[in-house]
Amino acid sequence: MREVDLVIKQRLDSGVPLVGQVSRYIISAGGKRLRPALLLLMSGALGFKGPAQYSLATVVEFIHTATLLHDDVVDESSLRRGNATANVTFGNPASVLVGDFLYSRAFQMMVDVGSMRIMSVLSEATNVISEGEVLQLMNMHNAELDEEGYLQVIRSKTAKLFEASARVGAILADASPEIEAACAHYGQALGTAFQVIDDVLDYTGDAAVMGKNLGDDLREGKATLPLIAAMQRGSAQQRELVKVAIENGDVTAIEAVVEIVRATGALDVARKAASDEAARAIAAAGLLPDGPHKTCLIQLAAQLLDRQS
Ligand code: IPE
Ligand code: IPE
Ligand code: MG
Ligand code: MG
Repeated sequence: MREVDLVIKQRLDSGVPLVGQVSRYIISAGGKRLRPALLLLMSGALGFKGPAQYSLATVVEFIHTATLLHDDVVDESSLRRGNATANVTFGNPASVLVGDFLYSRAFQMMVDVGSMRIMSVLSEATNVISEGEVLQLMNMHNAELDEEGYLQVIRSKTAKLFEASARVGAILADASPEIEAACAHYGQALGTAFQVIDDVLDYTGDAAVMGKNLGDDLREGKATLPLIAAMQRGSAQQRELVKVAIENGDVTAIEAVVEIVRATGALDVARKAASDEAARAIAAAGLLPDGPHKTCLIQLAAQLLDRQS
């Protein structure tokens, strides 16, 4: 990961000062670097060593960072990684354009690695992420969204990049089709669990620990799993309150909504869904060769459920 951080810093270079300023602003604020870690863990589990893993780990982090720059504009978010978002600090235009810079820099780096398969996986993933974000936009303030529709959004906007990161690790290591599929499966399940927990934390977390504001999902009228489950399990009155809050993006109803989400056991429903996905990830990791990388991948999936940030 130290090596990845070096490559990240080197590849942010641009002759245009604002590019470096905005991209360093968000990247040096940290973040968990989960997607590059996943790529290194998979390629490492399968015995690959070489500079391509650092370039590609940087590529997936750049794609992720580009989605965050754009996402915070779209979501009108003001806090990310414990700092004011780039859109607040530099404005929407700079955030959108530097996001584009990071996407295109990622594609330049992919071309340098020279694997058509890897380019295919990552370009597909980037395309699906965009579709997921647009699909979510179409579902804003839609209180009728069901669990299946919700899952389709999060598999696209979040899990796809986890899946691609894991799959690229396997491709680098020249894994068999079965092992590659198991790696992709692990990434998809982990990414799905990750987003479900994120959606739980939007109601139960601590903004200071998360580094982002709570309640943003309700403000945007996002029917995430905690709300979908609360509407399924609640009384007619509770259902109506949540429905209206989604339709109006009524953040003043947040306390009543949190209370309903808790009282109906919706948080447990969501945590159970995340735990089922984590179990799928752990089962898929079972196909990897034994060793410290595999152990770490299994622990990652198990500990994800308790994450607070
Ligand atoms: C944030 O991802 C966006 C989601 C998919 C919820 P992370 O939680 O991985 O963000 P950083 O990189 O650690 O800040
Ligand atoms: C994050 O989605 C962006 C992508 C996954 C593309 P969200 O909007 O749900 O996540 P946060 O809460 O802003 O990190
Ligand atoms: Mg957001
Ligand atoms: Mg969003």
